[in-house]
This record gives sequence, structure tokens and C-alpha cells, in this order.
Amino acid sequence: MKFFIDTANLDQIQEAQDLGILDGVTTNPSLMAKEGIAGESNVINHYKKICEIVDGDVSAEVISTNFKGIIKEGEALAKLHNNIVVKVPMIKDGVKAIKYFSDKGIKTNCTLIFSAGQALLAAKAGATYVSPFIGRLDDISTDGIDLIAQIREIYDNYMFGTEILAASVRHPMHIIQCAEIGADVMTGPLSAITALLNHPLTDSGLAKFLADFKKVNA
Ligand code: G3P
Repeated sequence: MKFFIDTANLDQIQEAQDLGILDGVTTNPSLMAKEGIAGESNVINHYKKICEIVDGDVSAEVISTNFKGIIKEGEALAKLHNNIVVKVPMIKDGVKAIKYFSDKGIKTNCTLIFSAGQALLAAKAGATYVSPFIGRLDDISTDGIDLIAQIREIYDNYMFGTEILAASVRHPMHIIQCAEIGADVMTGPLSAITALLNHPLTDSGLAKFLADFKKVNA
């Protein structure tokens, strides 16, 4: 399973990159706003900086919601760097745009996926990735992991090449459950990724090893 980090924070992207486990980055307008990135040239420069840190796919989301606007924005984003994947919302014009980009060889990430039907449409249109938002489904008492399983089954039935990018991952158990079910990619915050490091028996075991070493090497 590929590990993407879901942030526009350059320090956190660098930290995940330094850990040696990073395969890509996802951003969205809310995450860019959180970093205070506003204005076209600042947004463009920020995407370029992210692409310089990570050698992998970087999702950059369009703001337009009509076909012509999505195409114009997406083509400009795709030209910024080879790593850029154009992130397009799951709306009618978005699906049309994904088909257009797919025919042109431009990678896409269809975002805001909350049902298997949406995921099926995005795959039919040729999306490179679909992003089911598992945390937001959990928020409304619907099991987000069940949706990943449902999409996995559908894609495997027809051997769709679209990768399932589990998004809105909030904690380490989401990551483990995604891996068990066979999500191709997960994107989550640095905190969820680094939480995978922790186990109390690792801590106590290491403390004992070091104490025993010290006893005889004092
Ligand atoms: O990748 C989508 C993600 O940014 C949404 O996460 O936590 O806002 O639901 P969240």
C-alpha cells in the first residue's frame, strides 16, 4: 500500500519524506488555506515546492465546477510538474473532465467519493485515483471502511486500473484496516502515520535492553 500524506505543510511533508516511507502528497483547498496559501502565484509556487520534496504523485485540486473551467485549471496545474495529479470533484462536469484528462494522459484523482456508484463512474471515466473519504463517513455513523471493501470488490470484478486512495484517514487503525482490505493508497495526517511506530512493549523492551547493556558496560 502506498503512503500519501494529506497536508500542504512543507515541514510535515519533509518529515514524512525523511522517514523514507512517503509515496506522495494530497492537498485540497482547505489544507492550502490552513497554511495561509492564497493567490494564484503563491498557490503555484507552493505546489512546486511540494513537488521538489517528494518524488511521487502530488494531488492539486481545481476550484472550477464547470467543464471548461476544470479543463483550463487542470491543464495549467498538470504543466507545473510531472508529479502533479489533477484533483477533480465527483460532479457531472468533473466526470466529463476526468474522461478528457484521461484521454490526454493527464493523471487525475476524483475526490469527494462517498458511494460505490460514484467510484464506479470515476473508474469508467478513467480516473487514476478515486478518493473515498472514510473519516467523514464514520462521522455520520456510516462505516467508511465498508465503502473501501465495496469499491475493492467492484474494481477487482472488472479489473479497473483506477487506484483506491483511502482519504480522510484520521488515525492508525484506519491505515491498518485499509491495508487489510486492499486499498491501493492511503492518505492521512503525519500524526496517523507516526502513530504506527508506537507500542508500549517496544518502549519497555528497548529500555530493558539498554539497562542490561549498561549493567555490564558501566
Ligand atoms: O484527503 C481528504 C481529506 O483532506 C479530508 O480529510 O479529515 O477533512 O475529512 P478530513
